[in-house]
Amino acid sequence: MIDDPKIVIALDYPSPQVALNFVQQLDPKLCRLKIGKELFTAAGPQLIETLISKGFGIFLDLKFHDIPTTVGKACEAASRLGVWMLNVHASGGSGMMEAAREGVDRSGQKPLLIAVTVLTSMNQSMLNEVGVTGSVAAQVLKLSLLTKKSGLDGVVCSAQEAPVLRKALGDDFCLVTPGIRPSDTNIDDQSRVVTPSQGLALGSSYLVIGRPITQSPTPLETLIKINRELML
Ligand code: C5P
Repeated sequence: MIDDPKIVIALDYPSPQVALNFVQQLDPKLCRLKIGKELFTAAGPQLIETLISKGFGIFLDLKFHDIPTTVGKACEAASRLGVWMLNVHASGGSGMMEAAREGVDRSGQKPLLIAVTVLTSMNQSMLNEVGVTGSVAAQVLKLSLLTKKSGLDGVVCSAQEAPVLRKALGDDFCLVTPGIRPSDTNIDDQSRVVTPSQGLALGSSYLVIGRPITQSPTPLETLIKINRELML
C-alpha cells in the first residue's frame, strides 16, 4: 500500500468504454489517473464519478485559460467533481490564477491546483512568434514564480526544468512531470525523457506516465515494477 502514489497514468483514450476496460486492470493504491481534453469531451463528468467511486485520484487536465470569472467558475465546477488535481494556463496571468484559486476554495474541496507554464511542444521561435522574447527556460521560471505568487500549488514541468524550479520555488511546491520512460521501454514521440527514478531525483513530485503503462501487455505488472523501482 502506497500512501501517496507518485505515478499518474495518462488515460489518453477516445471513449469511456475503452478507458474503463483498461482501468479495471489497475489498482488505485498504486497510481492516480489523468483525464485530458479528449476523454473528458467524449465521456463527461460521469466517468470521473465512476473512477472516483472505484477509489482513484483524478488529475483533470483541462488547462483552463480564459477570463478570470470564467476560469474561476470552471475551477469551482471541476473541484466539486471531487478531483485530486486540476490545472490552468499560467499565461492567463495572476488575475486569472487568483480567480482559479478562489473558485477552488469556494468549492469546499481541496484539490491541488497547478498551472502549465510553456507547453513543451513550443520551441524558441514559436515563443517569439507569440511575442515572448526571453528564452524558454526564463519564461518557464517567470511563469512558475507567478504561479506560486498567485497562490497555486505547483506547475507541470519537464524533468530538465525540475532542479531549477525546485530550488527557486521550495520543497512544498508541486512539480508534475511528463516525459517519463522506464529504461526498458520505447520513447514514442517524446524527445527528452528520463526514467521514473531520475524524475524523482531531479525534484518531481508526481510522474505522468502514459504509453509505457497503457500499451503494456501487462499494465499492472509494469505499474508494480515502476513503483518498486521508486521505493529503492
Ligand atoms: O504516453 P506518454 O507517457 O508520452 O504520455 C504523457 C502524457 O503527458 C500525455 O497525456 C501528454 O499529453 C502529457 N504531456 C506531455 N508533455 C507535456 C504536458 C503533458 O507529454 N509537456
